[in-house]
Amino acid sequence: MRMYDLIMKKRNGGTLTEEEISYMIAAYTADRIPDYQMSAMMMAIYFKGMTQKETVALTMAMAQSGDMMDLDGIEGVKVDKHSTGGVGDKTSIALTPMVAACGVNIAKMSGRGLGHTGGTIDKLESFEGFSTGITAEQFKRQVNEIGIAIMGQTLDIAPADKKLYALRDVTATVDNMSLIASSIMSKKLASGADAIVLDVKTGSGAFMQEEEDAFALAREMVTIGNRAGRKTIAVVSDMDQPLGCAVGNALEVQEAIATLKGEGPEDFTELCMTLGSYMLIAGGQAEDEKEARKMLAAVIADGSALKKLEMFVQAQGGNPAAVLNPDLLPKASIVEEIPAPKDGFIGKIDCQEIGICSLILGGGRETKDSAIDLSVGLVLHRKTGDAVAFGESLATIYANDRKKLDMARERFLNAYHITEEKVQKNALIKGIVTEAS
Ligand code: URA
Repeated sequence: MRMYDLIMKKRNGGTLTEEEISYMIAAYTADRIPDYQMSAMMMAIYFKGMTQKETVALTMAMAQSGDMMDLDGIEGVKVDKHSTGGVGDKTSIALTPMVAACGVNIAKMSGRGLGHTGGTIDKLESFEGFSTGITAEQFKRQVNEIGIAIMGQTLDIAPADKKLYALRDVTATVDNMSLIASSIMSKKLASGADAIVLDVKTGSGAFMQEEEDAFALAREMVTIGNRAGRKTIAVVSDMDQPLGCAVGNALEVQEAIATLKGEGPEDFTELCMTLGSYMLIAGGQAEDEKEARKMLAAVIADGSALKKLEMFVQAQGGNPAAVLNPDLLPKASIVEEIPAPKDGFIGKIDCQEIGICSLILGGGRETKDSAIDLSVGLVLHRKTGDAVAFGESLATIYANDRKKLDMARERFLNAYHITEEKVQKNALIKGIVTEAS
């Protein structure tokens, strides 16, 4: 088989066979196909697209390009959750203890933040000593013992995706539905869970800015997951404004803890209840959403979800005292309000810009290896549709550097649009995509 022939076939609108796709991915992972040929292939796919069969074959080939996590040693149904990423998305930190407290095993692999979106691992490291660098054996033991473990990408999970993603990033071939779906699902399939609940974001802070594209991506991923024998469901949710109020690592952890005490922001709590319900149904613990919601509300009310977070933090080396006393989390030295420049209603919020404000303050990475400041960020006091009067606080800003604070404040004010007319609040849940829908 020659890569040249495969590129030409795709360039001319042909359909690649499963054998051709497996050959191409295996050879590229082993450095037997150069980046320039794979770049040409990515561009041909970008313009000519892939059939669903091709996308499934690409996903399976990428999933099998490295370690396939074997979770057989863990009892019960293992449920994973994945978000396509956004601003203020601390969902995993609150949701996974809620679901684990209801009896569904959480064996999850998470990543770090890059660019304007945060990552679960960075946020969890706000607990002093917390580590996701655990072995596969420890990981499985912990899930069996306490029902929840999160590990970093320490295994060689989907190395083909790692190489391809870096290549797509510099060849303008990231935003293709088949390529995104296969990239995400290859890692999920290799991570070994029996069921996968996806949170596909749409809006100005998301990868898929248009709702229609988010639904198409959701459908593609649900099909891939179910064809691979994993029960997969997707929730399409709003990312046209940050999720909840906190943006920044330790601040988001604090908000997740508040949510486990029943004191979280309404939108964030609702998203956890929705995703959690589908995780309980997929894990066989609830018959329907009504029953699942009741169970999730109960573990918040009786404190068992919060207790589960405490056990999880302790098991992975973090300071569990910070769960009960969030004052022990990293703290910024400068705390200031951002007053509204005029009366009105909050209109559009440029969500990505809010993520960038946190990045400017030091809360995100400019490059893969930069250190981050866990204590900085913002807590929003007004969101889309809310009224505000001149001088009232739009947000509190947490910083450790005056210059960075000034830069972030200026960008924040440009990202927050205040209008004279009241603006409709966005619907949080845009829809649910199942195999049958
Ligand atoms: N996230 C991924 O893992 N891959 C993509 O292609 C896009 C988002």
